[in-house]
Amino acid sequence: MDNMIYILNGPNLNLLGQREPQVYGAATLDDITHDCSILATELGLQTCALQSNWEGQIIDWIHEARQAAAGIIINPGAFTHTSVAILDALNAYDGIVLEVHISNVHKRESFRHHSYVSLRADGVIAGFGTEGYGLALRRMASLLNSAGK
Ligand code: DQA
Repeated sequence: MDNMIYILNGPNLNLLGQREPQVYGAATLDDITHDCSILATELGLQTCALQSNWEGQIIDWIHEARQAAAGIIINPGAFTHTSVAILDALNAYDGIVLEVHISNVHKRESFRHHSYVSLRADGVIAGFGTEGYGLALRRMASLLNSAGK
């Protein structure tokens, strides 16, 4: 639990590698999951990577993380901009929350500029491509280290 990190991905992120590659790049979600699990081992962390197109499923995983994980790295996809329910679930979670966006949402349509999740997130990474997940994992490790975990 002390070194377990949930990596949660929201809707349409199962299509990474096929979906708008000019925006999201060529890497698949499996590539990202694989790279994160190797990096996590180097950092002394474990990862549990999950993806769903369903808002309620993501909320259930956040609830599960209350007992199971020291931190959550979340890319909520389009739910970022719409979901008070995901924000509420994260507000009921005591660990570290890092929000990741592959694209630079601030350079895109104005409806992507607001994030409900950012009201809870301890840090936000956007526009670093799929490298953002690894950067978030490194940040997670340093935050957990400084918290003495
Ligand atoms: C995204 C940005 C969102 O606006 C979009 O709906 C996504 C992916 C990103 O990773 O850049 O599905 O979260």
